[in-house]
Amino acid sequence: MKNIVIFGGAFDPIHFGHLNMAINASKTLNAEVFFVPARISVWKEETAPVEDKINMIDLAIKSINAGERLKISRFEADSNSDVNYTIDTVRHFASKYPGSKLYLLIGTDQVNLFQKWKEALEISKLAQIVYFERPGMVLSKDNADKFNMLSIGGDIIDASSTEIRLLKSIETPLDVLMYILNHDLYFASRVHDFLDAERYKHSVSVAKLSYEIALNNQKEDLASYFIAALLHDIGKNVPILEQKEIVERDFAAYKDVNPKIYHQFTGRVLAEKEFGILDKDILDAIEFHTTGKPGMTDLQKVVYCADKIEPTRGFDSKELISAIMNDISKGFLTILEANKKFFQDHKIDFENDLTKQCMDYYLK
Ligand SMILES: [Fe+2]
Ligand SMILES: [Fe+2]
Repeated sequence: MKNIVIFGGAFDPIHFGHLNMAINASKTLNAEVFFVPARISVWKEETAPVEDKINMIDLAIKSINAGERLKISRFEADSNSDVNYTIDTVRHFASKYPGSKLYLLIGTDQVNLFQKWKEALEISKLAQIVYFERPGMVLSKDNADKFNMLSIGGDIIDASSTEIRLLKSIETPLDVLMYILNHDLYFASRVHDFLDAERYKHSVSVAKLSYEIALNNQKEDLASYFIAALLHDIGKNVPILEQKEIVERDFAAYKDVNPKIYHQFTGRVLAEKEFGILDKDILDAIEFHTTGKPGMTDLQKVVYCADKIEPTRGFDSKELISAIMNDISKGFLTILEANKKFFQDHKIDFENDLTKQCMDYYLK
């Protein structure tokens, strides 16, 4: 007899919390788990089209090599009704997989509200309802008894689709993040609003590389690496006179730098004002991504380097990439050295205070 878990939700987008629940349910119940993405999200403002949600679930499943146990059902996605009720989805599975044991995985927050679901009792007769218990959560014993609910143990990963949509966290596989960026979903469309096509492509490439460098160097705050890199050039397309004004007003100490460098300062202002970034390390990584400075953190070094060596830059940067993949501090020095040489070979003036200070500080 086959065991099947029905796992419905908005998945807008799918995140590590969903994936973890699905994997745990699959193991505990020895079952295949079907994600059933809803066609219409309750929160209409920020929602992605259901086809995109399905594609992202598919990428997420593949990225953790879980295709054997985790599947996608298009039942609700393909439905023509205005509203999809879970009872219809459960009936669909019951008729499609006769003789199988059906489970319905519900969110912990739904346990106490389950009596409000359409034909709740009928659902509980067709499928064994399961949920993950959360520490500190008060459960309605009435509902658990009445609908014969079963609690599944296992770690819960706290992740939130809302936070991902707002670029407050990136708790989803890199392939899903790249899909979001390449399809202008959620935060990507807001980033895109600030950048021309070429600059956007470059920023996406820097974000990916920065994330991969951080991952390879066992960094825990991958989100900082991804977000700082994605936003590093966010000030680049602001008209130069506006940038000049911002630098003269808020960064008076640097008002005499080459205008090409203004954008690192305007970038900081925009990241804070338009994207609500408060983390000082991220803001500093943006503010010094072009010039560097003495005393840089790993995050600042990685954003500085990823910007200069990302693969779409148009020169062969493989060796420099592998240097910083292996070791952030050493790789940074190698890249800084290469950058200095490039400036000298091309007779580019790098005598703006910050670049010179950075090079003098690190390349003794
Ligand atoms: Fe830049
Ligand atoms: Fe850049």
